[in-house]
Amino acid sequence: MSDLSDYRKSYEKSELLESQIPEDPINLFNQWFYEVEEFGGVEEVNAMTVSSIGLDGFPKGRVVLLKQFNEDGFLFYTNYNSEKGKEITQNPKVCLSFFWHSIERQVIIKGIAERTSAAISDNYFDSRPHGSKLGALVSPQSQVIPSREYLSSKLTDLENEYSEKEVQRPEYWGGFLIRPVCVEFWQGRPNRLHDRIRYTLENNVDWKIERLAP
Ligand SMILES: Cc1cc2nc3c(=O)[nH]c(=O)nc-3n(C[C@H](O)[C@H](O)[C@H](O)COP(=O)(O)O)c2cc1C
Repeated sequence: MSDLSDYRKSYEKSELLESQIPEDPINLFNQWFYEVEEFGGVEEVNAMTVSSIGLDGFPKGRVVLLKQFNEDGFLFYTNYNSEKGKEITQNPKVCLSFFWHSIERQVIIKGIAERTSAAISDNYFDSRPHGSKLGALVSPQSQVIPSREYLSSKLTDLENEYSEKEVQRPEYWGGFLIRPVCVEFWQGRPNRLHDRIRYTLENNVDWKIERLAP
């Protein structure tokens, strides 16, 4: 068995103090998101893990790309018929998490997912490169397929079919907007005494701010 007990580091890059934080977690998220770049960046700073509760009762996390965030919430796009699509449709309580190692920060967001309007999904789909649009048509995401060949031959067929036509968004593909109800910010600190600040939505309007033990 591999022994990883010597894999450890001291976290020393920043701190998170009540005196410095805004009343609203989206403002703090915005600040942290853009600070990643200043601290050396990470590949795909907008990559996040979306965890949902499976139809089998197991939680499952997978990485997707955050495409927008604002006061309403956090938006990503996917196939509504995928495993996650079905799970989130059945149980819209999800968790998003980010780990930005260059600045030793983690953000964990619990929220309620809803499908974006057809207009929003269309708008984003239309902005994608032609090949990505075809990919959405080719792939029955999360279903068992017989081979790699299945995908390449379907792609070739669709490339011929759509050589002169625009690809329309299939109705099974679109966005999920996650409206946050609880957002936890974790800043690594020395001696494992990390800073953890949790924002919890109260009465649908106010954010309660608490410090958690690391
Ligand atoms: C960096 C990265 C970005 C990804 N972005 C997306 C995305 O935006 N939307 C998506 O549906 N899948 C994305 N995926 C693939 C998902 O992780 C996952 O394999 C896929 O959505 C099927 O998940 P499911 O079977 O649990 O539904 C991405 C994977 C990685 C590693």
